[in-house]
Amino acid sequence: MEQIGQDRRSLFGLSNGQAALAAVGVLAASTAFPLNEAVAQQAESSTDVDLFNFALNLEYLETDYYLRGLGTTVDVVFRTSFGAPVKGGRKVQFSNPVREGMIKNIAGNEVAHINFVRAITGSQASKRPPIDMDAGFAAVAAAAGLSDFDPFGNEMDFFLGGMLFEDVGISVLKGSARKLRSLTLRESAAGLLGSEGYHMGAIRSVIYKMGDTWRSRAAAISEFRDRLDGPQDLDQPPVKVGALANITPTNQNGIAFGRTPQHALNIIYGNPAQGIMAGGFFPEGFNGRIRST
Ligand SMILES: [Fe+2]
Ligand SMILES: [Fe+2]
Repeated sequence: MEQIGQDRRSLFGLSNGQAALAAVGVLAASTAFPLNEAVAQQAESSTDVDLFNFALNLEYLETDYYLRGLGTTVDVVFRTSFGAPVKGGRKVQFSNPVREGMIKNIAGNEVAHINFVRAITGSQASKRPPIDMDAGFAAVAAAAGLSDFDPFGNEMDFFLGGMLFEDVGISVLKGSARKLRSLTLRESAAGLLGSEGYHMGAIRSVIYKMGDTWRSRAAAISEFRDRLDGPQDLDQPPVKVGALANITPTNQNGIAFGRTPQHALNIIYGNPAQGIMAGGFFPEGFNGRIRST
């Protein structure tokens, strides 16, 4: 095994412990996913409210996803409708109370995220656009080559559906942070990013522990996202070649990689083209000023 000398350690800013990890290939595995500064610099003209309204559309989707899996809906929990109807989804038959408890914890956070982001956007908060879970997941299943993918049909597919959304939310929060003018709202976005990161870490850990079937299904979803979100090889599955765990998909610095809102929409609309305004989970597109790929 190649030894990493003191000079190379200091060159890469690695501690001795990190250098040891690099020597066995753990850190080196992440270097295939470089930051794309050009992508990160797109859409600089968006206002803070535009960016939080973009996040709000994603929170509407995420929150109803988890609540429906638990047998309820956003409209029932909030005793109001935030806009258009949400179609699809049903209670998941959880076989494992620990995993069900994780989903309840995540769902509770998502409910709070809707409140939080609506408070930030205030009178300019975007109404919920029509959401179609059935159409969205059918499109993912077809494009990912998972003909039997049914997130509400079994507990593990439900975790895969969570992974589909959470990874996108994290990357777009990271990719948008530099565009926020308000320091207070940067703190808010950092808090949201942290929360979604915990969700994704929990979900990817469950998938990693579930063995080859679920690992390969997660890889198919990761590949589906990578085919849609521009030419960069950004997305990463929970397990890499050689069965190495990849709970935290990062760039070469070990930090979460960023996506533009436009590339996030490519995934959510299920279409890699530019200028797309709707599709997949959102038959009429996002509400708000950031709604086109
Ligand atoms: Fe959220
Ligand atoms: Fe989340």
